[in-house]
Amino acid sequence: MQTKPLAIILGAGPGISQGVARRFGREGFHMVLAARRPDQLDELCTELRGQGISCEGRAVDLTDATAVNQLIDALGSERQLPEMVLFNASAMHVCDVLEEDWEVIRGCFEVCVAGAFHVARRLMPTMLSENRGKLFFTGGGTALRGEPMMSSLSIGKAGMRNLVQALARRAEGSNVHVAQVTVRGRVHPEDPKFNPDAIAETYWGLYRQAPGEYTHEVMY
Ligand SMILES: NC(=O)c1ccc[n+]([C@@H]2O[C@H](COP(=O)([O-])OP(=O)(O)OC[C@H]3O[C@@H](n4cnc5c(N)ncnc54)[C@H](OP(=O)(O)O)[C@@H]3O)[C@@H](O)[C@H]2O)c1
Repeated sequence: MQTKPLAIILGAGPGISQGVARRFGREGFHMVLAARRPDQLDELCTELRGQGISCEGRAVDLTDATAVNQLIDALGSERQLPEMVLFNASAMHVCDVLEEDWEVIRGCFEVCVAGAFHVARRLMPTMLSENRGKLFFTGGGTALRGEPMMSSLSIGKAGMRNLVQALARRAEGSNVHVAQVTVRGRVHPEDPKFNPDAIAETYWGLYRQAPGEYTHEVMY
């Protein structure tokens, strides 16, 4: 049985999520990184272990509700209720909105909104019954305005933002903390503000908030 507190990142890659994994890992969390590609997860975990961080990768497609439930159930029986869960996945296709294919928009929406919904649907009832838990989401500035060349993403991010607002309101009055970080810039390792480690500090700050002080959206 893992004795370290557990943090799960759903939609793990080399960007924001790896910054969050480093930040929470450094604080002594066991990190579970989940995404579709096991080879990329292996690389991410190898990098983190090289920095002394305890972690493991789990392959999952977050648009598949059954697979999401199986992953969360497996982690729940092998380990404990996670202290922090971050939903971080998204999908996009660069294309003029007037030339876009509806199936592409639907596919991206599935990742952003269905993925977030499946995760919340499985985790939040348990969190609410235990009256604890932190469920965070990574949003984007495209949620705030339609993007003619990235409508697949902006529609998905807008949908997810609205869903997370509903989830946060559903948890009002409890100790369950639901929040989103709306990242309004392009992530780059060399950018002083929009690098993964700087953004990860925001999630750590949210995690440290006490009941009664919860922020539900950070406009980053
Ligand atoms: N990059 C930016 O400039 C930027 C700006 C503003 C907001 N954001 C938001 O920040 C978040 C992180 O972006 P990032 O670029 O830094 O990415 P990241 O954290 O490096 O990686 C995200 C990972 O999500 C995984 N994923 C995508 N669809 C999935 C699915 N259906 N099931 C499971 N995993 C899935 C992908 O891995 P697999 O392909 O292996 O599944 C991808 O590597 C996203 O929500 C993004 O919209 C990014």
